[in-house]
Amino acid sequence: MPDSQTGNNQMGNSQPGSSAGTQPSPDGVTAAGIGPWGFTITGIGAALPDKVLTNQDLTAWMDTTDEWIRERTGISERRIGGSTSGLATEAARIALAEASVDAADIDQVILATTSPDYICPGTAPAVANELGLQCGAFDVQAACSGWVYGLIVANGLMLQGMDRILVIGAESLDRITDYHDRGTGILFGNGAGAAVVERTGTGGGELLSWDLGSAGNFVHILYAEHGDVLKMDGKEVFRQAVTVIQHSANTSLERAGLTVDDIDLVIPHQANVRIVESAWRKLGFSMDKTAMVLERTGNTSAASIPLALKDAELNGRVNPGDTVMFIGFGAGMTWASAIVRWAER
Ligand code: UT7
Repeated sequence: MPDSQTGNNQMGNSQPGSSAGTQPSPDGVTAAGIGPWGFTITGIGAALPDKVLTNQDLTAWMDTTDEWIRERTGISERRIGGSTSGLATEAARIALAEASVDAADIDQVILATTSPDYICPGTAPAVANELGLQCGAFDVQAACSGWVYGLIVANGLMLQGMDRILVIGAESLDRITDYHDRGTGILFGNGAGAAVVERTGTGGGELLSWDLGSAGNFVHILYAEHGDVLKMDGKEVFRQAVTVIQHSANTSLERAGLTVDDIDLVIPHQANVRIVESAWRKLGFSMDKTAMVLERTGNTSAASIPLALKDAELNGRVNPGDTVMFIGFGAGMTWASAIVRWAER
């Protein structure tokens, strides 16, 4: 991202080795030689806790209004309660059922979260255990970009021969949010989304391109210390987010040899609708081709993209052969984008 002090672009090439050689080739033959290659999301699940915290509720103890929050963020309500592992397990079960995959056939659980059940151990092993699994299970801590990071790591593991991977984003952000703070309390909520990603033969879907990046010099603009709540410089997060979204989207498009017009649906991290609109104005994406659930969920960090993906699926907005772009950005700072071609059915 451009350095906030100098304006210099420091991002460089955040995908080592550029596109050639690091991704499955178009004919489906992989570097690992495992042959006919497809990367297909076969099941999607979502889970939200029951308890709704509306903007109106917040006005009872915070100097704010429903109108201000909706206009400045696009959020009307968020969910609180539940645990990260509980919500993750619920979303995973729905994804497995939709994919018609037995939990026992999952090779790996990847759980992206900023609000794990414990600082140590990770939450993924608990979710695997709930599902009756003893396969590999680890957390990804890349804040709001985490689920896209997980998706790209899953692709790499499938290149090494794995067949089915659960990629989950789950959060109980109410544990680290001060709902009396006007900057953060209006934004964050709990939820989980999960995807079953399967290695399939040629003709299946494909991860066409991806981009991962970070800028740790911006750690101070959004962070939580041990035992404390999230602290945020909202204006700076907003500014940096708009910049990294453009950078990452353009990088993934270029690597896939695609343009904005080739993308059927964009699923961005759901942080603030104005962030998305600002980035879209510069990129040329339209809100009509964008999946948003922010109004009903608030910012659910690593869960937001799979939650929006599930909503898009339920509304018939993800169809066989579609080209879908995911874009995550958040604390770290981190960013990640991926372009996935959905399987022809
Ligand atoms: O996953 C990434 C997570 N983080 C984000 O995406 C955060 C990105 N940033 C934002 O979403 C926005 O910066 C906020 C929504 C957090 C704040 O919006 P803003 O437009 O940057 O507000 P501001 O802090 O510049 O404040 C503008 C005005 C101020 O009043 P004056 O000085 O103009 O009279 C604030 O006191 O709005 C006032 N204000 C509020 N009023 C009602 C600030 N927060 C609130 C509030 N309710 N909650």
